[in-house]
Amino acid sequence: MRPDLYQGGTPEGWYAVGISRDLRRGEATASELGGAPVVVWRDAAGEVAAMDRYCSHRGADLSHGKAEGDALECPYHRWRFARDGRCVAGAGDGARMPARAHLRSYPVVERAGLLLACTQPDVGYTPPVLPGVEAARFHRPLVRRYTHDCHPLVILEDNMDVLHMEYVHGLQCHDMKLEIVEDTDDCFRFLTTYELDLLGRRRRAATETAIYGGTLAYGGSRVEGILSALFVGSPAPRNEGGVDFYFSTCIEKARGAWAGIHPLVANLASRMIHHGSAVFDGRIWSPQRPELGRVGMGGEEVNSAFHRHYARQMERSALAAPAARPSASGSPRGVAPIRLDAPPASSYA
Ligand code: FES
Ligand SMILES: [Fe+2]
Repeated sequence: MRPDLYQGGTPEGWYAVGISRDLRRGEATASELGGAPVVVWRDAAGEVAAMDRYCSHRGADLSHGKAEGDALECPYHRWRFARDGRCVAGAGDGARMPARAHLRSYPVVERAGLLLACTQPDVGYTPPVLPGVEAARFHRPLVRRYTHDCHPLVILEDNMDVLHMEYVHGLQCHDMKLEIVEDTDDCFRFLTTYELDLLGRRRRAATETAIYGGTLAYGGSRVEGILSALFVGSPAPRNEGGVDFYFSTCIEKARGAWAGIHPLVANLASRMIHHGSAVFDGRIWSPQRPELGRVGMGGEEVNSAFHRHYARQMERSALAAPAARPSASGSPRGVAPIRLDAPPASSYA
């Protein structure tokens, strides 16, 4: 893999562009998608859209606009844009808008409290729905954005860095096993199983992680007798360098005696996961140089395989046809979601 394959860029694909709860109906906000300026807005029916940030008329910043019904209205001369980027009304209603008045739009989905948009009309998959989260089996996600001065790859790789769990987080782990279970065009999936000394005894634990398209990480973790959690992490590149790391954690609800106070326990657990995964590790990531001239060691075969996977994502992106006008409906093919129940159950057997 040549260092320049990723030194200056990131793959086409799905990145977080915002946090669901921060965008109310009728509102618009400025964001970046793959480092390019976009406006993200929610129409009167609650549907979210993302499109180029600057108006095709005189370049006004559409993040200062507001949604009127199912269109975003420019604050300057009130041109209106539909969710698919079409300019549907200009100053003086009834005027026929030329094709060049339309803006480029991007597919958007909401997952675990994150707004995810795709840099291309179709990269072959749509981020899966998290099992159980929408069905209230989990507490409300804790969602935050962190800014780090590193390449997104550094954050994705942290998911498979088992050594630092002891060195950085002070966790006493035993019998750590890391195994790739899927390495396809759309998904790099691996399973980590280990035992953990926690709260007075040794507990079995497992995490399944799926990195979709080299851009978006989903995970499901279970620590025996303590918690089950799902997470979604999106290290989104910033135009000025570094990343906006969007991170969401969802803790499974407890039943029985714990159920009453469990929201408080879950919130505390989520905060600890955020602090460990994003704040604490972030001090080490920032600033971190992205070159590949690093020294690997035995036991890091999964990292090496992921580097090759990432290089393939970059090559696919370089070959991707220039974007046609996208639809706002997402893409048809699905990828398998995180199977929270499966890996821990099999690892406990
Ligand atoms: S700049 Fe947007 S309508 Fe004129
Ligand atoms: Fe960590």
